[in-house]
Amino acid sequence: MDIVEEIGTAPARPRRRPASAARAVPAAAPAAGTARPEAPPGPRTALKDRHLLGIQGLEPEEITLVLDTARVMAEIATRPVRKVPTLRAKTVVNFFMEPSTRTRSSFEIAEKRLSADTLNFSPSTSSVTKGESLLDTARNLEAMSPDMIVIRHKASGAPHFLARHCRSAIINAGDGWHEHPTQALLDAYTIRERKGRLQGLTVAIVGDLMHSRVLRSNLFLLKTMGAKVRLCGPPTLVPAGIASLGAEVHLRIEPALEGADVVMMLRVQRERQKGTSAFPTAREYFNLFGLTRERVRLAKKDAIIMHPGPMNRGVEIDSAVADGPASVILEQVTNGVAVRMAVLYLLAGGSLGELAS
Ligand code: CP
Repeated sequence: MDIVEEIGTAPARPRRRPASAARAVPAAAPAAGTARPEAPPGPRTALKDRHLLGIQGLEPEEITLVLDTARVMAEIATRPVRKVPTLRAKTVVNFFMEPSTRTRSSFEIAEKRLSADTLNFSPSTSSVTKGESLLDTARNLEAMSPDMIVIRHKASGAPHFLARHCRSAIINAGDGWHEHPTQALLDAYTIRERKGRLQGLTVAIVGDLMHSRVLRSNLFLLKTMGAKVRLCGPPTLVPAGIASLGAEVHLRIEPALEGADVVMMLRVQRERQKGTSAFPTAREYFNLFGLTRERVRLAKKDAIIMHPGPMNRGVEIDSAVADGPASVILEQVTNGVAVRMAVLYLLAGGSLGELAS
């Protein structure tokens, strides 16, 4: 049974005490068990919630805070010693119940660069294969007192479920079809670094909209930050009601790409199509929705091409485009480390001011 069936729809994000403070900012740290004080007016210096469960509900100032903090974190990667003691003595559990290349390694590198102790946990090496429930597994991990749990799970709402039952700060690393907040944050960081802003940009998101948590997190983030979002995919892969979230929906790729500043391609998620196929063949999909060099010319001359990975080359994107001059696909991966460092640091009670000084 999916967790959403067990617990209903993903609940509103709880507002509870933050995790204990990151090392760099002891003065700003509320004591364990106390509420985080109201942020003063002006630029935001802390996240409202002690968990990162999704982009939905984040304020523009919180998104900007993460992106600004990530910029400082990115500088650490340019130093001869790419490590700071910020999260020394903190323990982070990477609890990945679905496969991952980018997100899992990116979190692990981010944790190590911040000097946290990390524990990697996957189904193949755990008692989950013996039938232990998500809650029992999480409670047993918690008994070892981690400060944060980074979770990826096939069930939408699984991170919210843990947030309700665990003391640790929970970070959603992708839950079912629901959200993938750190992916959207690293995408936003990449766009902002390349374009200097998010507001007013036209972003075309093309592909398997139905099964994409990347789409949902990006849509919430881009709309919150004032970008215009166009969505495009075959009718069988367009979720009902998606336009009500403030996006233009196109069933042909050409008008979706026309004059776009950013083109974000989404993977066709055959593993979530459960025995049915949303389109006849991969060749037909590529002919109608694949991003080719000819189609890229419809976007702005300086448009950037993005993909969260993993890519199906020759299905949603031509290799010549994926590896071409407009592609920022590997930059997204590089930026993911800085963005995840920023998220870990801020959820541990760190502040951008302390970090910058
Ligand atoms: N973009 C992304 O989530 O990739 P992984 O599945 O490899 O983590």
